[in-house]
Amino acid sequence: MKKNLSVIMAAILAAASLAGCGSSKPAETTAAATTAAATEAASTEAATEAAAETTAAAEESKTDVAAQGSGEIAEIPTDFTTITPGKLTIGTSPDFAPYEFYHVNDGTPELAGFDIALAQRIADDLGLELQVVPMDFDGILMELQNGNIDLGISGFTPTPERAQTFDFSDLYYTGGQAFVIRGADSDKYKDYADFDGLPVGAQNGSIQMDLAQKNTPNANIIGLAKVTDIIPELVSGKLEGAFIETPVAEQYIKNYPELKIAWDVEYDTEGYAIALKKGSDLLPAVNAVVNNVLSDGSMDEYITTAQELASDDGNVFEGQLDENGKAAAN
Ligand code: ARG
Repeated sequence: MKKNLSVIMAAILAAASLAGCGSSKPAETTAAATTAAATEAASTEAATEAAAETTAAAEESKTDVAAQGSGEIAEIPTDFTTITPGKLTIGTSPDFAPYEFYHVNDGTPELAGFDIALAQRIADDLGLELQVVPMDFDGILMELQNGNIDLGISGFTPTPERAQTFDFSDLYYTGGQAFVIRGADSDKYKDYADFDGLPVGAQNGSIQMDLAQKNTPNANIIGLAKVTDIIPELVSGKLEGAFIETPVAEQYIKNYPELKIAWDVEYDTEGYAIALKKGSDLLPAVNAVVNNVLSDGSMDEYITTAQELASDDGNVFEGQLDENGKAAAN
C-alpha cells in the first residue's frame, strides 16, 4: 500500500496536537488515590481517624473484589457461535486512552489500549480472527442489539439498567468517576451547585450523562459524541466542567495540564465489563478468558503496555479515523 506523505504528515500533526501523553494509573494506584481522597475528606469533616480507616479499608476491598480472577486457569468452552463464522467482531469507541485509542506507528494509526489487547486475547483463545469496528460510544449497544457485532469492548460499566437488556462479562478492570474543571477555576467552583445554569459536558450514551443529570440537574448539560471533543471545549471555556472516567481523565490531563480533577464523583457500579447481546452463547467463553487474563497476570501487562503507548508523546490519536484510515483532526 502506497502512502501519501502529506496525509501521513497531517496524521502526525493531528496526533501530536491531540496526543494523550501521560500514563494513567493502574487500578490499584487509583484505588489508593481514592482512598487518600476519602481519608482527606473524612478528616476535613473532622471524622475520627478510625472512621477514615474504615472507609479506606472498604474502598480497598471493593476494588480487590471488583476485578479478580479465580487464580486458576479455566478451560475455554468451545460451543459458541459468532455473527461471522471464524471471526470475532467487536465494537469500540477509540477516544478513551488507555482503554482504546490509536497509537501512530510510523505514520500509521494502529488500534491500541488494554481493551484492544483483551479483545485480541479473546479472539486468539477462541480460535477466531479479530475484527474491530470503531464507532461512537453511543452506537455500540445498538449495533450489539442489531446483531452487527459480537461484543462491545469499550470501557463499559455494567449498570443494572443496561443489564436488563444486555449481558455483561465478569469485571476485568476497576476505576472511578471524576469531575474535571480548569485548574484556574479551583477557587471559583467548590460544589455542584456552582454549576447551575453553566455548560457541563458528558459523552453521549455514557453513564457520565447519568452522573451529570443526577449531580448537576440545573446545569446546561451538553452531550458530545467523543471524549476527545469534550476536552478542547473545556480548555477553551465552552464547557465549565465535565464528567469523565478517572483513568481517562488522568490520561488527558497529562496532555492538558490546565485541566484538573475537581473531585471524585460517587457512583454505585464500579468496574468495567464486556457487553454482549442478551443470552449470547459467547458469555461462558468470554468469562473464561477474563478469568484467565486476571489469573495469569496478562491483564497487568496489557494495562502497562497501554499506558506506555498512551504516553508516547505525539503518537497518540483519539477519535475516528478518516475514510482513508488516517488520523484526521477532530
Ligand atoms: N464507563 C462509561 C460507560 O460505560 C463510559 C465508557 C465510554 N467508553 C468509551 N470508549 N468512550 O458508560
